[in-house]
Amino acid sequence: PRTIYLARHGETMYNKMGRIGGDSDLSDNGERFGEALAQYIKEQDIPKLRVWTSWLKRTIQTSKGIDAPQERWKALNEIDAGICEEMTYADIKQKFPVDFAARDQNKFSYRYPRGESYEDLVARLEPVIMELERQGNVLLIAHQAVIRCLLAYFLDKPSDKLPYIEVPLHTIIKLTPVAYGCRVEYIPIDV
Ligand code: F6P
Repeated sequence: PRTIYLARHGETMYNKMGRIGGDSDLSDNGERFGEALAQYIKEQDIPKLRVWTSWLKRTIQTSKGIDAPQERWKALNEIDAGICEEMTYADIKQKFPVDFAARDQNKFSYRYPRGESYEDLVARLEPVIMELERQGNVLLIAHQAVIRCLLAYFLDKPSDKLPYIEVPLHTIIKLTPVAYGCRVEYIPIDV
């Protein structure tokens, strides 16, 4: 039985500033998470493991030290927040109060102007999920919204709950198939 490991990238400069989206570098903490993740994966000695990341610097930097074949997927990039990219939630609330409230009303369907919704993201991830279903052991390093969509698929969560699934930084999420569905384990990594 194969295992899927999911993790967000390590902490970034933007995470520290509370800014969403963008393509920022890892912080020192984030770098340490990358090292600790590589060490954890090495200790697990997972047969034929493959590593998938997005095209963004923060996932590629996080995967740097992992000794396994790697693939980059643009479809794993974080939700595109359009006109709100690189803002803090406080900036968005102040500059676009109507949008801020609309997103709160229906977070799954709300589409950022010139960006995406969670619903769009679910569609974008379909080919990734199809390929993931055919693979053996995979460690997928991606982003908060992306991992929420993948968890909702594997754990059969309804779309209204999907945008609120907890996906903390510096935590490995281990999915193991069981009779019907998946078992999930959250493994926090101290940095
Ligand atoms: O803040 C990190 C982040 O990955 C942003 O890039 C993204 O817009 C956000 O999380 C998604 O979370 P939420 O849908 O709760 O705003």
